[in-house]
Amino acid sequence: MIRLPHILSCGLVLGGLVPAGDLLAQATSDREAGRQLAGQCRTCHGLDGLAQIPIAPHIGGEPESYIRNQLTAFRDGTREHEMMSIVASSLTDEQIAALAAWYAGHRITAEVTADPADAPDLCVSCHGVDGLHLVEDAPNLAGETNIYIDTQLKAFRNGKRVHDIMTPIAADLTDAEIRAAADWYAGVEVEIELVE
Ligand code: HEC
Ligand code: HEC
Repeated sequence: MIRLPHILSCGLVLGGLVPAGDLLAQATSDREAGRQLAGQCRTCHGLDGLAQIPIAPHIGGEPESYIRNQLTAFRDGTREHEMMSIVASSLTDEQIAALAAWYAGHRITAEVTADPADAPDLCVSCHGVDGLHLVEDAPNLAGETNIYIDTQLKAFRNGKRVHDIMTPIAADLTDAEIRAAADWYAGVEVEIELVE
């Protein structure tokens, strides 16, 4: 049910006026351009999107639309962070699209080692038990550090970061619930396979 809009939008693009071959060529050149641009990102996110520093999230295998939206938000100032606001400030829409295509294209796998019954009920419909997104615009949470997840939930709760779905969800969470959800997803083991 919740996946329907994504399936529909794919169908519309593929069934639209652009010939499939052109779309494929476009996607390939976007990814090549993205790989070049990712040289600016790798010290913190790796070339494959596996985080290299604890405060940076994994971005390999995130939904393309999610990466695009976040980079645009950092650039336009609707999401702020001392490092990312600077990184994104000079990116064009084309560069953002290329970076999103590059990082979204890697293969992420997650393994839950704890009891799946302990996964946070309120979150699994969109973020999965294992932290791999089930809804197109939702990010993966698998294996992010608990500090990162905790910080983002508090940012939604205090209004520093705003989103139609996450703002009301975070508004009702206590510090203990935030901590528990952060610990759950941080405990999932992830691997990201670089896809050229
Ligand atoms: C100096 C380190 C650093 C560099 C370089 C850097 N980032 Fe980041 N990035 C971060 C940190 C830290 C965050 C977490 C921001 C926050 O807490 O809100 C982040 C967040 C992000 C996010 C949001 C992910 C999410 O799950 O919400 C995206 C997307 C992203 N970076 C992409 C990039 C891209 C693409 C580049 C290269 C053009 C890049 N970053 C370069 C440190 C970095
Ligand atoms: C109905 C779907 C839905 C539910 C339920 C949901 N989320 Fe989200 N979540 C989203 C979407 C969509 C985003 C992307 C927000 C954005 O674009 O800024 C998001 C973003 C996040 C982020 C930011 C991740 C990042 O990489 O920056 C965190 C953390 C998060 N959610 C945690 C949770 C937790 C914990 C719960 C349960 C208490 C939960 N979410 C429930 C849809 C959902």
